[in-house]
Amino acid sequence: MTGRSPLPDFYRLLRLDEVDSTNEEAKRQAQTGAAEGLVVWADSQTSGRGRRGRVWVSPKGNLYFSMLLRPQGSAGAVAQLGFAAALAVGEAALSLLPPETPLAYKWPNDVLLAGNKLAGILLESQAASDGKVDWLIVGIGVNLVSFPELTEYPATSLAAAGAEIIAPLTMLSAITTRFERWYECWNRDGFAPLRDAWLQRVQGLGEAIRVRLARSEMTGRFAGLDPAGALLIDTGQSVERVAAGDVFPAAG
Ligand code: BTN
Repeated sequence: MTGRSPLPDFYRLLRLDEVDSTNEEAKRQAQTGAAEGLVVWADSQTSGRGRRGRVWVSPKGNLYFSMLLRPQGSAGAVAQLGFAAALAVGEAALSLLPPETPLAYKWPNDVLLAGNKLAGILLESQAASDGKVDWLIVGIGVNLVSFPELTEYPATSLAAAGAEIIAPLTMLSAITTRFERWYECWNRDGFAPLRDAWLQRVQGLGEAIRVRLARSEMTGRFAGLDPAGALLIDTGQSVERVAAGDVFPAAG
């Protein structure tokens, strides 16, 4: 159903009890011409998915939503909005937790609490024939009350970190409000302010990391972000730029 939205005016809310994946529904809506600002929010997902084809287990109680955007730029450039999403989730979470909470960002788009994954972000886009993006879906999953055990990267929830139990709609509103600000900032000032804010709370800068790429792995020191958002890894021989991959502690 669509109705009067509890979100900022920029958005229109499509609320569902259950869906295969909010990203999938947002994509269907994009392909039939839906305008920027659509938010698809579901109580649960039957085929929630994460990056690199992983499953995102989606029982009731946590937050699952996707925003449809139509930003100007190439697929590479609009991927910077994943950092806007991470910042919005991080700021929303910090507004509910003690200020000293060890919240950190892990490249490219994860939000960690005390080193455990609180939220994941899945970007999907389609480019038009001129190379510019036609639509971008920003899918966000936040563990509010439960989290999966035995994941490759350990997970946590807001409740496990000591926050009051928070309703998904409250968190949705908190995140979308902050995301809209970062989206405006990106449109106006580019990626630099997002990069600076993200680096202030980055996980493991200067530490030994292992980066899993599509067909290989790299180890080295996490040397920062390039101006476009790619990860920089110092292998000892050279500083390499990684556009897509999964980061783990070197020993992990
Ligand atoms: C990841 O960390 O691998 C990304 C996880 C993204 C999960 C969210 S939940 C809402 C949206 N719908 C999906 O199917 N996936 C994203």
